[in-house]
Amino acid sequence: MNWDARQLAADFDLEKLTPEFYANPYPTYRALRENAPVKRLPNGCYFLTRYDDLVTAYKATKVFSSDKKKEFLPKYGDSPLYEHHTTSLVFNDPPAHTRVRRLIMGALSPRAIAGMEPDLIKLVDGLIDALAAKGKVDLIEDYASAIPIEVIGNLLDVPHDEREPLRDWSLAILGALEPVIGPEVFARGNKAIEDFLSYLEVLVGRRREKPGNPERDVLTRLIQGEDNGERLTSKELLHNCIFLLNAGHETTTNLIGNGLVALSNHPAEKQRLIEQPDLIKTAVEEMLRFESSNQLGNRMTVEPVELGGVALAAGTPLTLCIGAANRDPQQFADPESLDIGRTPNRHLAFGTGAHQCAGMALARLEGAIAISRFLARFPDYALSGEPVRGGRVRFRGFLSAPCQVG
Ligand code: HEM
Repeated sequence: MNWDARQLAADFDLEKLTPEFYANPYPTYRALRENAPVKRLPNGCYFLTRYDDLVTAYKATKVFSSDKKKEFLPKYGDSPLYEHHTTSLVFNDPPAHTRVRRLIMGALSPRAIAGMEPDLIKLVDGLIDALAAKGKVDLIEDYASAIPIEVIGNLLDVPHDEREPLRDWSLAILGALEPVIGPEVFARGNKAIEDFLSYLEVLVGRRREKPGNPERDVLTRLIQGEDNGERLTSKELLHNCIFLLNAGHETTTNLIGNGLVALSNHPAEKQRLIEQPDLIKTAVEEMLRFESSNQLGNRMTVEPVELGGVALAAGTPLTLCIGAANRDPQQFADPESLDIGRTPNRHLAFGTGAHQCAGMALARLEGAIAISRFLARFPDYALSGEPVRGGRVRFRGFLSAPCQVG
């Protein structure tokens, strides 16, 4: 490894990222993996980049906690953002996590997800017709972001004419999870939580009065709870609905957007998928690995532990860099190349262990249908301008990607 890479690793600070990093973080991730895989940052957190170290941190839940109460208090104070994030299942440990996860997994059953496929195809084909009529389109605005919002809206049976604010709320709440936030982002995040809660109180009230079909309607299922009497409290119900709407939204938009842009930048792989559409499943996995929509996760040590040869004290905050682990040559052959037929492909885009993404079957289905039907209809699609990145380190995607489809 040359001096530049060593310097890149030595200088890395998650709180002082450069425009070059946002455009392409992978050289930095590589430099870190090779020179400082368990890297102490100036603020005392550690940044992990090796695949095996991430798997250890994800799997040993008793040592690496997901509970964020301690960490978020100085960041958010006593605010709606604090209440929201510390009530979401993803930022809790057992037993609170286990209870909520069981209910959510029950509601996102394979049967419920399979039942969504016909509506999803109809939605995607409708969007594709609209794209064809326009010719010059924005892949994100007109397509990638329009799909998850409808799917999640259907999942909770949010009336169509009430869905418009969901995307902005979601972007504002997730934006406040960035490592460093200013007062404006903080205020926007808090306002989004307040507006979202007021809306959900009305929606839940209506659903309590008139329950939907629990086989298809996740909200009814979450309200009714399990047969054994297990139920969410009102606060848990509202905040975990917000979490579900957010978790399934920007991440899946980015899977579809990143996937279509990556194919456009790799014409041979694009052609391969056009000629062999059966590769769509491995192609989606490769898109998840190559440009993971969720690049960072977090844990905190609850006892002294050694990781990658580094001794960590109890109470050390860790950032798990999924984007770096997914390009670790110890796990993936030729990791910097996009190979839509890659097998095996045990990427960490959905995390692993007790908190592994509860919506991954749905995300995979959305990705496969959105990308395969787009490609079948527009095999000659071409970017017509420079795609604009979202400027975030945690959630990697595009805000816009101008494209000519016909
Ligand atoms: C490409 C799309 C998606 C990606 C990349 C993604 C990624 C992730 C990751 C990395 C985690 C683990 C967090 C951790 O352990 O710290 C997670 C958790 C979660 N995701 Fe996803 N997700 C996606 C789509 C979805 C969808 C569509 C839904 C719901 C419909 C969803 C619901 C959840 C839930 C409920 C959790 C928390 C699970 C738990 O804490 O037990 N996700 N997701």
